[in-house]
Amino acid sequence: MFLSSFRYMETFNKTSETRFILLGLSDFPCLQVIYFLLFFYVYIFTLFGNILIITVVSIKAQLHTPMYFFLKNLSCIDIFLSTAIVPKLLENTLAKDRSISFMGCASQLYLSSSMMSTECVMLAVMAYDRYVAICHPLHYKTIMSQRLCFSLAAGSWTVSFLNCFFHVYLAFQLPFCRSNLMNHFFCELRPLFHLSCKDILFNEIAMYIAASTIAAPSFLLTIISYIHIISTILKINSMSGRHKTFSTCTSHISVVTLFYSNILFTYLHPHSGYSPEKNKIMSLLYTTLMPLINPIIYCMRNKNFIDSIKSGRKHIIQKA
Ligand SMILES: *[C@@H]1O[C@H](CO)[C@@H](O)[C@H](O)[C@H]1NC(C)=O
Repeated sequence: MFLSSFRYMETFNKTSETRFILLGLSDFPCLQVIYFLLFFYVYIFTLFGNILIITVVSIKAQLHTPMYFFLKNLSCIDIFLSTAIVPKLLENTLAKDRSISFMGCASQLYLSSSMMSTECVMLAVMAYDRYVAICHPLHYKTIMSQRLCFSLAAGSWTVSFLNCFFHVYLAFQLPFCRSNLMNHFFCELRPLFHLSCKDILFNEIAMYIAASTIAAPSFLLTIISYIHIISTILKINSMSGRHKTFSTCTSHISVVTLFYSNILFTYLHPHSGYSPEKNKIMSLLYTTLMPLINPIIYCMRNKNFIDSIKSGRKHIIQKA
């Protein structure tokens, strides 16, 4: 460990301060190979699942509804999020040189945090969509017009990119003079803060403000939508009616629960403080596994979606 630190210090002096070195997941060569294979398959399946969703939703006319429009957008976000992280992680598990340039680090941080934040807003928008569908079914078509859907999606992207620009910009104003060794597998805000020799209190406050201006309204919108949805469902008399209505939002509920439980575990551990190892594991969950699990949840739990894949196959078979 000491030896490798010395080696890193040498490179640190040689290559000046403009490169960061990502310590990655582990130093053991045989673990490296296992990690490589694991994340290689995770990445391939993430791309496959999300591209499948985008394709099927685009092709199938019966899936041209607001819910699937947003789902397609969520798949886009998931592809960008894992592409910001995983290819670099794969390269670092095998390469001797684990460094990343200053600009590379900044763009990785910017892209990954914008995508996380867009995902958060998009999930709230999807909850609102379910709310309108279940609580105002007669006005659904007029309220969720194509124009509104488009603006809501575009709004989620814009708000997130602007918001993240602000805190990424602030973070890269810090003097990273303590070290350039980042105990993480990608450029994330908190490990980056640890490299600064200047007081980071201001940046931490800015980070919390930026994160909560996105997360708090999204969380509230999601919760309020579901309170209305559940109270509407409880008013339905027939059991099968209840079940049928509820089944239109089970996939979304699962994805939302997963997303927020991840965030809660990552950011709300009051007494333990910051631990690099725990941070790594939590980051792995939300940057690499979430984008993989989202399409699985939507494909497996959604009868509509499965039916349209099956009907597509029948169609192809009939044609042949
Ligand atoms: C996601 O939403 C944006 C903004 O409305 C739109 O331009 C883009 O085409 C959408 N992406 C997909 C894959 O539907």
